Amino acid sequence: MTNAHQATSLFDPARLGPLDLPNRLVMAPMSRNRATPDGVPRPIMAEYYAQRAAAGLIVAEAATPAQVGFTYPNIPGVFNEAQVEGWRRVTGAVAEAGGRIFLQIEHGGRIGHVETGGLHPMAPSPIALPGGIRTPQGKREAPVPREMTPDDLRATREAFVAAARNAIRAGFDGVEVHAANGYLLNQFLATSTNRRTDDYGGSIANRIRFVVEVASAVAEAIGPERTGLRISPGNPDNGIHMDDGEELFPALLDALAPVGLAYLHVVYADPAEPLWGELRRRWRGTLIANPVLGRGDTLPVDGGRSKADRLLEAGADLISLGRPFLANPDLVERLRLGAPMNPLRPGYLAYGGDEENYLDYPTLEAAKI
Ligand SMILES: Cc1cc2nc3c(=O)[nH]c(=O)nc-3n(C[C@H](O)[C@H](O)[C@H](O)COP(=O)(O)O)c2cc1C
Repeated sequence: MTNAHQATSLFDPARLGPLDLPNRLVMAPMSRNRATPDGVPRPIMAEYYAQRAAAGLIVAEAATPAQVGFTYPNIPGVFNEAQVEGWRRVTGAVAEAGGRIFLQIEHGGRIGHVETGGLHPMAPSPIALPGGIRTPQGKREAPVPREMTPDDLRATREAFVAAARNAIRAGFDGVEVHAANGYLLNQFLATSTNRRTDDYGGSIANRIRFVVEVASAVAEAIGPERTGLRISPGNPDNGIHMDDGEELFPALLDALAPVGLAYLHVVYADPAEPLWGELRRRWRGTLIANPVLGRGDTLPVDGGRSKADRLLEAGADLISLGRPFLANPDLVERLRLGAPMNPLRPGYLAYGGDEENYLDYPTLEAAKI
């Protein structure tokens, strides 16, 4: 299919709202758990993102818009001044290195624990996450969240809006609203996590309502050209099951069409899946595709290049890569040259840490020395 933004190569420039991207590679959001226990970004995070500033766009890791939204230990927040100050260092370092950066805003919903955030988690329905959850004290049984009241819904919408405004004040080029991978907004979409009997549960029109409200409110506050949305159709992570994803996601895109968001970001996009073509046909704006590179510690030797190219051919405008960027600060250059990739080191999913396995993945240049 032809698309106004269709790329011929990963290395073609692209326009995203007011931004000129030098290439079509996006660094996918990845939590690295290196904020303080209160969610304040630490200076090493500025260096980490600045190392990766050659990406067409960086989407920085999930940051919570509210104390009750904390998921795991050492996740950053974006709801108070200390956090905004910490982020300012990050955005300043990226800008200085010539990059562009959005911040992902993620509320954990039922994925959270009183030992981590100090508050009992809340969610669309009182259904616990299967399996355990990591807290600063170790692995715990996931709590049964309390069901969100109408006041909670209003407060959470407002928290997303305030967080988006904070992100802009902190120097981000925009925000990505996280409705993927089993966190709060995804919990509203899914049948396995949403048993509500009010206007926010049951039918597809009701289950998409909260996501549409939050994304629209954020777009109204900071501008649709600075607001993206992430979804993960078919991804069962974190106990997500949807009986009707093939109808729900197209309905969600139709409902969001008038808002004119900067982009839609699709996790584990697969051009062989019928839903991919359906989403591409419905979404007139920029579509970021995150290819399926497989799970675990082993990544394709080409760093995901062939899958990225296939998705560009299938109509994606931009391609996001996660772990290849984690292990290769100069990923854009390596892909351009067809150079070998650094392997992922074990422990990259560790819940915390400092410079090790974070700032010390070498560039090609450094590896030669
Ligand atoms: C260490 C790590 C942390 C992640 N954290 C987030 C996150 O904060 N928000 C999010 O939407 N996805 C997160 N993801 C998922 C990635 O954005 C991406 O979708 C996934 O890694 C698949 O892409 P890849 O195969 O290129 O790594 C994370 C993945 C990894 C490996």
